[in-house]
Parts: sequence; C-alpha cells; structure tokens
Amino acid sequence: MTSRATRFPSAETLAAELPSDFVLGVATSAFQIEGATREGGRGASTWDAFTHQAGRIRGGATADVAADHIHRLGDDLDLVRDAGVDAYRFSISWPRVQPGGSGRLNEHGVAFYDRLLDRLLADGISPMATLFHWDTPLELAGGWRSRDTARRLGELAFLLGERFGDRVDRWVTVNEPATVMLNGYALGIHAPGETLLFDALPVAHNLLLGHGYAVEGLRGADVRGGMGLTNVHTPTTPATSSDEDTEFAWLFDALHNRIFADPVLLGHYPEPRDDFASVLKPLIEVDSRDLALISQPIDFYGLNYYFPTRIAAGARRAVAPDGESEAMASLPFHLAPWPEFPTTGFGWPVAPEFLETTLGEMAERYGSALPPVFITEGGASFPESLVFDERSGDRVVSDPRRIDYLARHLEAALRSTSPGGIAESVDLKGYFVWTLLDNFEWAAGYSQRFGLVHVDFATQERTPKDSFRWMQALAGDRRR
Ligand code: NOJ
Repeated sequence: MTSRATRFPSAETLAAELPSDFVLGVATSAFQIEGATREGGRGASTWDAFTHQAGRIRGGATADVAADHIHRLGDDLDLVRDAGVDAYRFSISWPRVQPGGSGRLNEHGVAFYDRLLDRLLADGISPMATLFHWDTPLELAGGWRSRDTARRLGELAFLLGERFGDRVDRWVTVNEPATVMLNGYALGIHAPGETLLFDALPVAHNLLLGHGYAVEGLRGADVRGGMGLTNVHTPTTPATSSDEDTEFAWLFDALHNRIFADPVLLGHYPEPRDDFASVLKPLIEVDSRDLALISQPIDFYGLNYYFPTRIAAGARRAVAPDGESEAMASLPFHLAPWPEFPTTGFGWPVAPEFLETTLGEMAERYGSALPPVFITEGGASFPESLVFDERSGDRVVSDPRRIDYLARHLEAALRSTSPGGIAESVDLKGYFVWTLLDNFEWAAGYSQRFGLVHVDFATQERTPKDSFRWMQALAGDRRR
C-alpha cells in the first residue's frame, strides 16, 4: 500500500494542470494577524471584548498582539511576494478604519491599508479585500441581531470604495456569515458569545442584508473591482439512511449552506420540509425587497471549503468543529464522527473528494445562476514544530500533511470543474490558501497553526514552512 504522504500530486504535475489565468492566492484576516488593538485610534470590536472575557479562548489568549502584522507589514508582504502567488486576500479592520462603526474614517487606519495596497500593486499582486471578517465595532449595539449593523456595513463599503476603489481588484463583502451566526449567536463559541440556538436565524438575514447593502455601497462608490461574498460550505451526509438522520442532515445542510447561498443566488430562502417549517419561519416571512437587495448580481462567488459533515439525530454532548459548546448538547441532532478519514489538528476530516461533492452541489443547485467561483479559503492546522537543521543551523518546519492537504484539494477542485468532472459547469477562477501566517485562530487561540509560515509568538520570528516552498514551486513551475 502506498503511504498517504506519497499520494499527492507533485507541484510540477499540479502546475501543468492549472489554467493559465487561474489565480493562486494566500489569505489572511485583520483580527487574526494585526495586533495593535489599541493603537492609531483603533476602536474596540466584539472580538476584543470576547477575548478578554474569562474562559472564552483556549489558554486565555487574546489577539492584542497576534502576529504583530501592523508593525511588520513590509516583512509580511515580502513573504507574500516570495511565495510567488498571484493574489493576496486580506481583510480591513472595521474598528481600525471606522472606530465605533459610524461616521468619518480614521485616517491613521486608512493609511495602513493604503500602504498595503500600494505595495501589493508594486509587486504585481492582485488585492482581494474583505470588508467584514468578524470584527464588529463594539459600539454597534445589538451586533448582527440588529438590522442597523447591516446598514452600517453598507456605509462603510461606500466610504472604503471611495478610498480604495481604484486599487482593489476584488471585494468580498462578508466572510462566512454561517460561522458568525452558528458560532457567534447560536452556540456561543465565537463573539459575541450568544447561545440563541434556532432563535439566531434573524442574524443570518441581517448578515445577508449586510452583504446586499455593501454591494450597493461599493457600486455607489463606482469601484473598478468585482464583488462577491464568501460562504463556507460543508457537504452534509446523514450518518445512516434512517429517516431521522436524513431529515436532520437536510436541516443542517439548510442551516449551514443553503440559507446563505440560496437567497444570494436564487433570490429566496430554501423551502422548508414540513417538520422544519417552524424553525425556518423567520426567514420564510421576510420582505421581498430584502431578497431583491440580497440577490443583486455579483461578479463572483467566494467559497470556503475545509471539511464535510456527518449528521445523526439525537442530542449528544459533542465538541463543535472549532470549539467546545455546551449549547450544542441541546440540539436535536449532533455531528457524528467520521473514523474513515484522517483528521487535522482541529479533528476535521481530511476529505478532498468532498470538495468535489460541494462543487457538484453548487453546479446542480445553482446552475447558470452561479457566477465564476473563487475558493477563497482552504487549508489545515497540524501539530508541528520548529527544529534547527543540524548541519546548516537553519530553522525548519516540516509539514508534509499540509502539503498533502493543499495538493489534493487543489487537484480535486481542478478535476471536478474540468470537462467531464461532476462540476464541469462551475467556472472556477482560483484558490486561496488559508493562511499566510500562523495566527490567532479564534476560540482556539494560538493552538491551531494554519500558516505556510511559522510564527514564534514570543519573538514574532517568521519561518517559512516546507509548505511555503511547495507553494513557491507550484507558482514557479507554472510560470516557466
Ligand atoms: C474560516 C475563517 O474565515 C478563518 O478566519 C479561519 O481562521 C479559518 N476558517 C480556519 O478556521
């Protein structure tokens, strides 16, 4: 039997399969890397407050310093350039550019992103900017339970569109609204830590309205770049063929995937199965003008894929994919284990074939309504350590499982969207690796390292991992 480590395609083989205009990128987000949370007039976010509450984050970690990116912008952009990628996806910290979430922009904060954009363009790297990657200004009372927050995001989009619209190639309005609703408002794992369970559904609608208002704002500012949103998809399978497992798998698929994709792409929420009509009622009764706002044409669809989900009926005390949640035990279903697959440091199943399933579902469900797709995130955390090479004295991080993960997922994405693939109608434009640097991984603090570059959080020293060199090889081989 061949070992798993030898099964992934080489960088050279993969490079040969990449269409010439395929965008290879790396992604980050502001709160996870920037630090300097009290500098330069930055306001506070719900995540600042959450990380300072006892017992919320593993190891009591905060993102006050994180990867200190604010003070290391030049070095970090050297890494982006040296990786050889075509594009860099980053997010703009709302409380840094508009403390309080309303009113005039904070010029000090804007200047940081001005420098970032100018440097990317000087290096020939295409900027993809995310407007909302979870750091909601603390002053926006009610957070995403309030429709007002959605309107505010639209105003922010207009103001930032005016400033950066000449330089950003692609705008992502909202990142993973599903995670914000599920982890932040239903299960209490993420900021603001609410445990509303099914009563969190209006949050989904407000986040989607945020996307709609942001598209309006960007168009109002006449930006030259394209725009879309990023949804995280997890293909969902029932643990057994029993009716109950099948029904709850339908519900989970609806709550995680479809209520965020259907309204954007089809202009309506999914029609509930009878048994779940009362659960989905808050979404079914929304105003048609809201749906028109949410389903305005977009230029691309951002899809994050990490792992598939298996659902079984019945309440069970279980660990959520990215943190512990007491609230999960009161749901009528649970996430069933999937022992057939190897797992990442987070315990997520490594299953590239399900990326094909996801893309196949997108093709089937949305057909010609699906605009070009970017996989805006994919990646994995593994326990790994930095060692000193005895001969050279160099710092080395060997991460073959990350290379395996990335190579096989990229291969699956390309295969399924090629002629004859199960998602051949999907116009796949690119793949962004999550992430450039080890960083603050939300509820898991610094315990999960997803970076192509290792960060020593005591010294802030950066060490490119073997996967970084793999990325360089992939990008380099393609150009030859
Ligand atoms: C998706 C999120 O967008 C990102 O912030 C997070 O770090 C990764 N998933 C890994 O959990």
